[in-house]
Formats: sequence, structure tokens, C-alpha cells
Amino acid sequence: MDTPGPVNPALVFSLRRVTEGAACAAFNWIGRGDSQDAGRAALDAMRSAFAEVDIDALVVIGEAPRGEAPQPQRGERLGRVNSAFKADIAVDPVEGTSYLVRGQTNALAVLAVAPRGAMMNPGPAFYMEKFVTSAPARGKIDPGWPVEKKLATLAEALGKDVSELTVFVLEKPRHRELVDRILARGARVALYPAGDVAGALMAAIPGSGIDALMGTGGTPEGVMSACAIRAIGGEFLGRLDPQLQTEARAVKEAGIDTSKWYRCDEMIASNNVFFCATGITTGLMLEGVERTKSHYKVQTMMITGATGERQILTSYMPNERLGSIAARDVA
Ligand code: FBP
Repeated sequence: MDTPGPVNPALVFSLRRVTEGAACAAFNWIGRGDSQDAGRAALDAMRSAFAEVDIDALVVIGEAPRGEAPQPQRGERLGRVNSAFKADIAVDPVEGTSYLVRGQTNALAVLAVAPRGAMMNPGPAFYMEKFVTSAPARGKIDPGWPVEKKLATLAEALGKDVSELTVFVLEKPRHRELVDRILARGARVALYPAGDVAGALMAAIPGSGIDALMGTGGTPEGVMSACAIRAIGGEFLGRLDPQLQTEARAVKEAGIDTSKWYRCDEMIASNNVFFCATGITTGLMLEGVERTKSHYKVQTMMITGATGERQILTSYMPNERLGSIAARDVA
């Protein structure tokens, strides 16, 4: 891993422009059913915003062949090649494309940054099983345990009764048994059809109303969540869990061990990380973009590993500042 030297924690304020730009560009496509154009607009805005940031960023997590929307390519360089801060990045210009194009809640623009060489490259694995909770339960739960034992131990660690626990689960056929067993044990589920970055962050933040995240979602989303959770101090454990036949074959050929649970610090090997997420549509974590004749109002969560700070910033940006990309009217 490159040693980046001291990186100014205030860099997060420049990085936020990247997710804010993507969110404002995606705003035009809320509820229009077109995931390709939504993704392209957000990606173009993200790429242009990077040009203004003092970072030499290498895309480690970008394109997701399972995804519907355009993504940056792995290996693509963004920002400024001459910058002293050599970084790995994971980006998702629209996390929750299906929410966005149906005009539903919880779509985010997300960016995670770690020093060059510090971010796990998951190779051909698109899906990851995740177990996320907050710091008081860190190290106390083996993610391989049966769900009933995990719930009992979690309740004890958080000083709650099992009936007071809420577990975020993606609403997918693969999770039917998991959901039935959580309900049978008396805990609540928060079922969302998409958007497990927001779910993971809420699970890691004590008092958020979500006590844990369980189940399988995207690997890129897992790596981005791990980056944020490494900084805020919760528990994130991930196991590569191929769901597609082609993916399973490629993962096997690459010799990847699908029984191994990775800790946060194995996925992100540095604390010197940054994470930004801007709401596109209002959701669990953030308000969505609002646009008036004169400005955009956006809300961004910014996390800085070096200081352990988590901030939510509401920005009012004059429409002209975003230029033609975000302000472009749809046909
Ligand atoms: P997109 O940004 O590609 O729409 O992903 C949304 C998402 O719900 C993620 O939050 C989640 O990790 C993943 O998709 C789950 O994938 P799938 O819907 O294929 O099960």
C-alpha cells in the first residue's frame, strides 16, 4: 500500500461535490423509468466533479455487470494524476437505481476513498453476504452462527430484548427463510427491495432504529459500506456469496474462498478513509434532492476516518454552479 502521508481531513468537503453532482444530475431522472439515462447523467456529473478534487483516484470498485446502470470502469483514473494523494475509490453514482427510476425512496450517490492499495478488490464476485451491527456488539457475534443465536447474542450485547431488535434485510426471494426465522424469534424486520448501503450504515449507527443488517447484497455496496463503518467504528463482516452461475464459475476459477468472512479491516486496510453519500430520493438516512428555480438543496453524509467524524451537511447550491450537466432538462 502507498503511504499517503498526512491527508487533509478537510478533503471530504471537496469529495462531497462528487456525490452532490451525481445526485443533482440523477434528480432529473427520478420516476422516469430510464435507468440507463439516469445512471449516465449521474456518472458524467461524478466524472466532471472529480476534475476539481485534489486526488489521484483509481477506480477499484466500479462497473457491476449485474447492475442496470452505467458505472465507471475498474482501473479508470479520476481526479488529478499529479496529486500527492494516491487513492483507491469505490463509486456508485446511483445506489438503488430501481428506487430512483420508480420514484421511490432511498436512492443515494455514494463514494468511498482509501489510500492506494488499501481497498479490497473482490475480483469477479458481485454478491456478498453481510452481517452489520454497531460497536457495542463488535467481536461478539460469529456471522456463521444460526440466526437465532445471533439475535440472542446481539440483544444481550445491545442491552435489549430480542423483541426490541430491528434487522434490515433486502426483500429478495433468497431471504425468505432468513426473514421467517427472524420473525419467528420475535424480532422485527425492516424489509427494503434495494439499497443496502443505507441499511448497513444505519445498522452501524447506535440508536438509528436499525440494530443489524443480515443477508446477501452487492459486493461493491459491501466494500463501500465497510469503508464507512471502518471509520465510524461499527461491525461489518462480509463473505463472498455468488448468486449467478457465471459469477460462481468465475469465483471458483479465481480460487476465491467463499467460506471466509472478511473483517472490515481486511476489506479496508487503512483508517485514513473518506466516505460521502448524498440523498437522491429521501430515505432511511438522508433527505433527497430538492430543486427550485434558483438552487438545488442536497443533503450529504460525510465520514472522515482520520478524525472519526461523521457529519450531515445540507447544501444550497445555485443552479448555475452545477452547469449544464445537472440542470439539463429531460426530453
Ligand atoms: P443498484 O445500485 O445497482 O440498483 O443496486 C441496488 C442494490 O439494492 C444494492 O443496495 C444491493 O447491494 C444490491 O442491489 C442487491 O442486488 P440484487 O438486487 O441483484 O439482489
